[in-house]
Amino acid sequence: MKKRILVTGGTGYIGSHTVVELQNSGYEVVIVDNLSNSRADVVDSIEQISGVRPAFEKVDCLDYEGLNNVFTKYPGIQGIIHFAASKAVGESVQKPLLYYRNNLVSLINLLELMPKHGIKGIIFSSSCTVYGQPDVLPVTEAAPIKKAESPYGNTKQINEEIIRDTITSGSPIHAVMLRYFNPIGAHPTALIGELPLGVPQNLIPYLTQTAMGIREKLSVFGDDYDTPDGSCIRDYIYVVDLAKAHVIAMNRILEDKQKDKVEVFNIGTGRGLSVLELIHKFEESTGVKLNYQIAPRRAGDIVKVWADPSYANSELGWKAETSIEDTLRSAWNWQVHLREKGIM
Ligand code: UFG
Repeated sequence: MKKRILVTGGTGYIGSHTVVELQNSGYEVVIVDNLSNSRADVVDSIEQISGVRPAFEKVDCLDYEGLNNVFTKYPGIQGIIHFAASKAVGESVQKPLLYYRNNLVSLINLLELMPKHGIKGIIFSSSCTVYGQPDVLPVTEAAPIKKAESPYGNTKQINEEIIRDTITSGSPIHAVMLRYFNPIGAHPTALIGELPLGVPQNLIPYLTQTAMGIREKLSVFGDDYDTPDGSCIRDYIYVVDLAKAHVIAMNRILEDKQKDKVEVFNIGTGRGLSVLELIHKFEESTGVKLNYQIAPRRAGDIVKVWADPSYANSELGWKAETSIEDTLRSAWNWQVHLREKGIM
């Protein structure tokens, strides 16, 4: 019998890619999403890609009874992958209480319900944001946690602590916390991808929308940083590679392969790329010219961060495999798909 997994935020960007990979690996998936930042027709696209329609329940993770009903309706759920969260750094500065409520209470509800329903493990979407500006690069999991730059970042740190404290207190659950670097790109079918509402805040959606002519110009936020070309450096990880890390982490929990009841892994490529390098890679790999200008620095930006993913490589047997060229082409193909569908 197929093992049943609950994916919160399963119609979102990383969630939808992960549902596809879970189904491809033989898991049965139940999606819970409040559709606050995604569309219900993502479920159709997931079915089109994988040939399997996941169960879908429109439930907000703040709704304890609603979640409880989902676990009762779908008995035997063994693991949870928890993506559902608010994730806009700038918005979190404007609306801290919204971020603290959404991101903390959702996790607390799940952690309370897990033992009640005999659910063994949870995978939590954490972020390299917990490292702030690391003193040593590439950054390993052992690097110190720095004071968060935003309420959003703080919710990631606090949620990691909530999980640790819950397990220390004797809760029977297991956890893997994955610290993502910068997820980009879209599924090779171009049927699912990132769909930001309004003006994108992140680099890649802004870049592809500019290339499509939706935005006039991409602003490169700063070219006077202490980096080789002066622009900021990040570790851009292909979303499908990232999705696969979740499947491996879930197998690890369910097959009792963990070294500790709570584990943490960096999920990145180990390769740092500057904003300007990324723009040039995009132009080279798609043949599309990009209109961009150098603009002032953006407040709160980390200068440079990239992962040491060697612990995930050796311990999980997972590695980011996709080239940056293929990744950027997939992001462009997705933007073209949105245009063809008349969505954007
Ligand atoms: N950038 C531009 N122009 C833009 C948008 C971004 O130059 O229009 C630059 C930024 O200054 C930064 C780089 O592109 O140097 C990447 O910026 P993103 O906004 O795409 O990503 P961030 O690294 O700022 O943030 C991401 C996630 C957060 C997460 C954080 C962890 O969006 O959720 O990584 O560091 F917390």
